[in-house]
Formats: sequence, structure tokens, C-alpha cells
Amino acid sequence: MSASLSITTRHTIAPVDRKIYSGFVEHMGRCVYGGLVPETHPEVSTKDECTPEGFRKDVVEAFKEVKPPLVRYPGGNYCANFNWMDSVGPMSERKPRLELAWQNTEPNTFGTNEFVAWCRATDIEPFFCLNMGTGDLREALAWIEYCNSDANSYYANLRRQHGIEKPHGIKYWCLGNEVYGDWQVAQVSKEVYAAMAIQWAKAIRMLDPTVKLVLCGQHGFNDWDEYVLQQCVGWVDYHSIHLYSEQKTHEMAVYAPLVAERSIVWTQAMIDRARYATKTDKQVKICFDEWNVWNPQKYPGTDGHEEIYNVSDMLGVAVWLHIFVRHADIVEIACIAQSVNVISPLFTKEGDLFKQTTWWPYLLAAQYLCGRSVSTHVQSSVWEGERTGQLAQFKGMLPETLYHLDMAATVNDNNVLTVSVVNAKLEDVEADLHIDLPIRAGIEKIEVAGEPEDVNSFENKDKVSPVRSELSTSTKVTFKRCSYTMLRYQL
Ligand code: AHR
Repeated sequence: MSASLSITTRHTIAPVDRKIYSGFVEHMGRCVYGGLVPETHPEVSTKDECTPEGFRKDVVEAFKEVKPPLVRYPGGNYCANFNWMDSVGPMSERKPRLELAWQNTEPNTFGTNEFVAWCRATDIEPFFCLNMGTGDLREALAWIEYCNSDANSYYANLRRQHGIEKPHGIKYWCLGNEVYGDWQVAQVSKEVYAAMAIQWAKAIRMLDPTVKLVLCGQHGFNDWDEYVLQQCVGWVDYHSIHLYSEQKTHEMAVYAPLVAERSIVWTQAMIDRARYATKTDKQVKICFDEWNVWNPQKYPGTDGHEEIYNVSDMLGVAVWLHIFVRHADIVEIACIAQSVNVISPLFTKEGDLFKQTTWWPYLLAAQYLCGRSVSTHVQSSVWEGERTGQLAQFKGMLPETLYHLDMAATVNDNNVLTVSVVNAKLEDVEADLHIDLPIRAGIEKIEVAGEPEDVNSFENKDKVSPVRSELSTSTKVTFKRCSYTMLRYQL
């Protein structure tokens, strides 16, 4: 049976907000030290080539390819014991602190201003997360004043003393990170959190009415989400959800991300319900500010989560990105967790970097899966194996039918149609394309394929990498076994 892929370009779901290609940097493992800056930081590295500001040049250049609009910082779980005052001021006065989330000593030689400078060097907008664990409102207001105020006031002047005349103008702020979790240095109940979030939002907006605030949600299908939205929907701009899909098998890697599709739909309904119940006109969108494929048993946090990703994982990441594009009407921000070394598509060592398999869908989607998201429909053979792990755990949250093919499509301002397809089947699949408008020309086909277990490494950096070829206007396309393919057409 050949598969059938239908694309209705005349039906726009919504414009894709490029903020769905955002990143996340946490003080954890080798994300900052060894990732953004050499591990020897603030000492100069003899092996890593650096920008004039002291940032790893290879990492900055890689980010400039993707152009993520936002990068979230400084955590993650790290936030719940982060004191921003430790992270600013002259290097000689920075204090190393015990870091409880990941059980390290944080040197604090890279902090608020270094991160903003890294963002400026990389053309990224910084996105901050407030400490709602051990931190209090006074401390949060002081940090926002330090970052955003132009007044002749104590913290704004402290920033000036630190050599930064103009405010950083940080627009996006998370009201805490996973504050519901017992793994947090300090956790709170939903009732306490909702009351705090309202107070914090009110005070923060008094200080800077231009900020966008992100409410701390859970997975999008919990009582927590429902309660905090009911209470706070009128006070915030985004509801955050986090999910990591597990991948102990090829099928788990590719199909577990589909849980996120349901959690987005549920969250959208909860937002609507909360808006209706509280009679607010405020638009609230989803900020999926931590997502990825991750096997925490194999790559635990205490070891820095240095996961090596294979081709199955690459397909999982592509499915994740398809989901955000298919739900462009409600998902406005999504941050792949994390940006370097820690469960990341980029992997460094002193003096070298390689791009993991998962880099390719992230890069290609950020480059081409943009414009307006359009309706798609897949008909293909299905996977009917036994559902284990997350596939069993999330019964009811996953579709009854798991198709071997997964797809999303966009049309940009130049009328270029991009069709992005995952073939999870361990066989080639021939498909008929049904596009509602005539194709004027094929632009190119970009294909990344391999065996499920194939990985890239320092020794073999290009084992799994894109192959570009001419694309005909034929409506019969063969998708290689275990592949990620982009078809680009001029309409
Ligand atoms: O990204 C790793 C961790 O996963 C983050 O610190 C936390 O927010 C999540 O649980």
C-alpha cells in the first residue's frame, strides 16, 4: 500500500512564530562552562578559539545558523537556588556557591551580564526565569530593576557601576520553574503558587509594564495546570509546559513525542475555560519552554545529562517540531532543552564540536519550516507493536493509530511550500502527494537518513548529515527507511 500525504495550502492554521525554535541554557553540567565559554573560564583557553568577549566561537557560529529567537536562562532546577546578586559585579568579587539542584559548586564567573553579552554576540534575545523557590519578590524585583530600569535608582545604578549603561530590556520572564516538583530545592503547593504568582505579576508590572510573564504549568494535563490557570489567567501572557519523551526503543523515540500533541490540546482547552470563567480578554499562549527526547536513566543529571543521540532520536525531535508547527495557533514559544552538551544537539570538548543527529531537524526546521502553518493529513501504514514504557504509561494521551509517517507543512511569503516528513518505518515508503495548488517547480529535497542506532561523534562528525538533491514535480515520492525529509516546492 502506498501512503498518501495531503497538504491543503489554502487552509492556514496560523503563522508559525519562530520563537518555537528557541533554546535553553542552564547552569548544569557542561552547558555553560565548556559549552558557551571554555571550561577554563574565566581563564583564557589555549585550545578553544573564542570571540573577543571570550565565548566559544564554534558554539556562537552554530547558533547563528539556527538563529533561535530566545534562549531561556539560568535554569531549570538551578533557578530555585540561584541568587542573581552572586552572578554580577567584578570577577574578583564573585563568590562560588554550593549549588543544590545539581549538587555542584557554582563559580558564578558567568552570570546575568555575561549571558546577555553572549546573546548579543549570537543575535538572540535573552529570556529569564525567576527564582520562586528560595527567592522572594524583593529579590526578583531587584533583578528586574537591575536588568530593565533606566531610573536613577540603586539597582539600575549598580548595573551602570558594572559597566552597563543601557538597560538590557529583558522582555520575557518565567514566574518560576517546575515549582510543583519534589525535586526542586524549594517547592510549593498550587494554592500557594497561584497566590504568589498573582502578587509577583502585579508588582513586576508596576516596575516594568512591558514585560511578558510566563506562568509555571506542569505537563498540560494536570490538576496543577487547571488550578493555576483558573486563578492566574488574567495576569500572565503564557502558560509554560514541560515534557521529555523517553526513547528506550526506536518506537518510543519516534512516537512518545505525540503525547505533547494531546497536552497542547488540553492546555489550550484549559486556557479557554479559564478565560471564559474569569471573563478575561487576555490572550494566553503556550510556552513549551522545556522539551526534548531524553533517557534520564541512561544519562542522569548528576553526570551532566551528556546524551548521545541516534537516528531514532533525530526522528523524535523532528516529530516534536512538527507538533509545534501543527499547533502554531497556540504554541508561540518552545525551547529545546538544552542548548549545549546537556541533552543537546550540540556536543563540545576542548577545542572541538560536533553536531548530533538531532541537530539536523532542529536546524532545518528553524531555517525552512517557517511562514504559515498549513493543514496536512497523513494516511500510511501503522505501527502495531506492543506499547511499553511511556507509550504504555501515556495510554489515552497517545493516538489510537500510530502512523509510520508524520508530517507538517508551511508556506512562506515567497510562496515556497515546505513539506517536512518523518518516516519511522524500517522500510522505504512510497507516498502520493496531494497538494491543493499546482507546483510550479521543485526547489530541493533534503534528506537525513541512517540506521536507528547511527550516531555522530568527534571521529565521524558527518555520519548522519543532510543530503541535498534536485526535486522533481512528480507527486510520487519515496521516503527512505528511518529518514527525515524536507521537500521544498515553488507554488
Ligand atoms: O533540563 C533538565 C531539567 O529538567 C531542568 O533543570 C528542569 O527544569 C527539568 O526537570
